Amino acid sequence: MNEATRVSMTATDTAMTDVHGAHRLRDRVAIVTGAASGIGRATAERLAGEGAKVACVDRDGDACAAAAERIRAERGPAIAVKCDLLDLTSIERAVQAAVDEWGGIDILCNIAGVGHFCHDLDESAPGWDQIIGVNLTGTFFMSQAALPHLLDGGGAIVNCASTSGTHGAPWQAAYSASKGGVIALTKSMAVSHGRDGIRVNCVAPGGVNTAIHGQFEIPEGDRFDHSLLARIMPFIRMGEPAELAAAFAYLASDDASYCNGITLRVDGGMMA
Ligand SMILES: NC(=O)c1ccc[n+]([C@@H]2O[C@H](COP(=O)([O-])OP(=O)(O)OC[C@H]3O[C@@H](n4cnc5c(N)ncnc54)[C@H](O)[C@@H]3O)[C@@H](O)[C@H]2O)c1
Repeated sequence: MNEATRVSMTATDTAMTDVHGAHRLRDRVAIVTGAASGIGRATAERLAGEGAKVACVDRDGDACAAAAERIRAERGPAIAVKCDLLDLTSIERAVQAAVDEWGGIDILCNIAGVGHFCHDLDESAPGWDQIIGVNLTGTFFMSQAALPHLLDGGGAIVNCASTSGTHGAPWQAAYSASKGGVIALTKSMAVSHGRDGIRVNCVAPGGVNTAIHGQFEIPEGDRFDHSLLARIMPFIRMGEPAELAAAFAYLASDDASYCNGITLRVDGGMMA
């Protein structure tokens, strides 16, 4: 076994054991969007494992219900709320559902996202609007809906950006713009609400093993060497959702009490 393989296996094994401070988030109420799948689901599980009551929010109602059911069976209180982030009424209802259940909100993790590869000449207005709508507009309006409750006692918002929002990536104008927007939105809200005891930060994942990659089909006529990316991955592997969930849990917790407006890159060093 070479050194790179040894490092890679060690990191995965550590994340999978789900080691964390016991009950760091005891009695906090958390909303997690994108909780039906991938990074959002792993984060909902992680927050529940640390003592939070979790509202799992996603447009995929069945998968969201299954995620909440698993949390209730294995970790603690959870509800599922079907919500389409492209619909403002749906967003308001999702936040209200958590407040109705537990009386307030302490943590909001905006993780739901969509994307695609598309040649710039072929991008359509609906394609652009959907990506910006879910990733950026959805993140802002979920935060706006949660703000009155967070203002009542402080709390943490943790958004999901991407290394595509910090570094150039081909065929992703809409996705990269949405994630760059999330980073800028995070900084603005962090400065606006810091004095109210609200911290706003974001996590920027690199490549993570989730279903979202099925949405990224390389466009015809592509001349970019995608294998280049694999060659600059120091761990020679993708990240696992649990490794991202650990970063969301950290920024949501009091351990990150002096972090505000930061973008925590979690990419195995790919963009180092
Ligand atoms: N996987 C990666 O390599 C990677 C890298 C960088 C950033 N990210 C970001 O991580 C986040 C989570 O993605 P993932 O990789 O876990 O993908 P995923 O596809 O497994 O999960 C995304 C979730 O978002 C939900 N969603 C999509 N549109 C929605 C809408 N309109 N309303 C409500 N929910 C909606 C989906 O139903 C799904 O459950 C996204 O913001 C994504 O952009 C992922």
